[in-house]
Amino acid sequence: MANIDAGGLHRAFRELYGNPARLFSAPGRVNLIGEHTDYNDGFVLPIAIDRRTFVAAARRNDSQVRVHSFDLDQEATFDLRRRSIESKDWLRYIEGVARLLQEMGFELAGADIAISSAVPMGAGLSSSAALELSIGLAFLRLAEREVDLVQLALASQKAEHLYAGTKCGIMDQLTVAFGQKDHALLIDCRSLEVTPIELNLSEYSVVVCNTNVKHELAMSAYNERRAECERGVALLREKMPQIQALRDVNVAEFDEYANLLPEPIRRRCRHVVTENDRTLRAADALRKGDVKQFGNLMLLSHRSLQNDYEVSCRELDVIVEIAMSYQGVAGARMTGGGFGGCTVNLVRRNAVVSFREFVESAYQHATGRQATSYVVKADDGVSEILDDWKT
Ligand code: GLA
Repeated sequence: MANIDAGGLHRAFRELYGNPARLFSAPGRVNLIGEHTDYNDGFVLPIAIDRRTFVAAARRNDSQVRVHSFDLDQEATFDLRRRSIESKDWLRYIEGVARLLQEMGFELAGADIAISSAVPMGAGLSSSAALELSIGLAFLRLAEREVDLVQLALASQKAEHLYAGTKCGIMDQLTVAFGQKDHALLIDCRSLEVTPIELNLSEYSVVVCNTNVKHELAMSAYNERRAECERGVALLREKMPQIQALRDVNVAEFDEYANLLPEPIRRRCRHVVTENDRTLRAADALRKGDVKQFGNLMLLSHRSLQNDYEVSCRELDVIVEIAMSYQGVAGARMTGGGFGGCTVNLVRRNAVVSFREFVESAYQHATGRQATSYVVKADDGVSEILDDWKT
């Protein structure tokens, strides 16, 4: 029963729990450029996408939370008064967000909850952030609390750190919080300032290709890269004592002091420093509607993630090469943390259908695996759905 819409979820909720619910939804995200820069206080340029997670929730009079996932066809419960988190898997995100909101001083009420999501899980499209933010908004609204979206994003990020084990940056949660239809978001991950930029891609569409692989390494390598960047900052501070993060180093300064850094830290830092530069240039290109330049920067980003940051994998590289060999593609790159998951591609609108067929068949030929592809549009962030669904 996956992928049901808001109205369908509400009907299913009534059948399950016997009463009406309030409805919430949050988007997945695709990062256009600015990868592995967020936890270095840098810049990212993602879009929230029109694949969303829906949450139906009704307040209870006790501290129990009952959750039904229609995607997994599983049900679980927990008690808001319990002190430690015992949940596993998907429920950890939900209990984690509730717990952190409680720690921030919000008094939450128990709830009956049902979830259905069209954000593919484990594909690097932030299905977990979509879940965290939609659940967090539901808990706060049921408790009749004012919602500060930055606070909610930070609580969700902390839930990932504490209960999912990834020391992620803030990109995913801020994108899910502040997504804007037809706009990309230039996010300064130090000040947390979000600047919407019209997604002016003229005759191009954004196509996501899912390699449908996720290598085991992903979480440990992510945390390792983060530590390597911190090490790089510590070493660079010998010559640049004022820097707090790689965000504070520009390309010329990096070139001057790169010899202070041993390998592989040098390449890790080079990726971050050049990626911040590419991201700001890509934002400018987008403002000018220069799709060609934007696409070139995407490909450079992929190469840097592949060779310097080493977070790509064979399947991602193969599918990027396949995409770039197709006429009518302005740019392609891996998106998200890496080691599998998805690529993001700018494809001429009138070539999208044939592009998808071409990529899926060439990828199967090269890897023996099935790829999935989606055309995505920039969508709004997390919100309560107030009408259109009471059918
Ligand atoms: C994951 C993390 C983000 C970000 C990206 C890489 O998606 O959740 O915070 O670091 O990887 O850009």
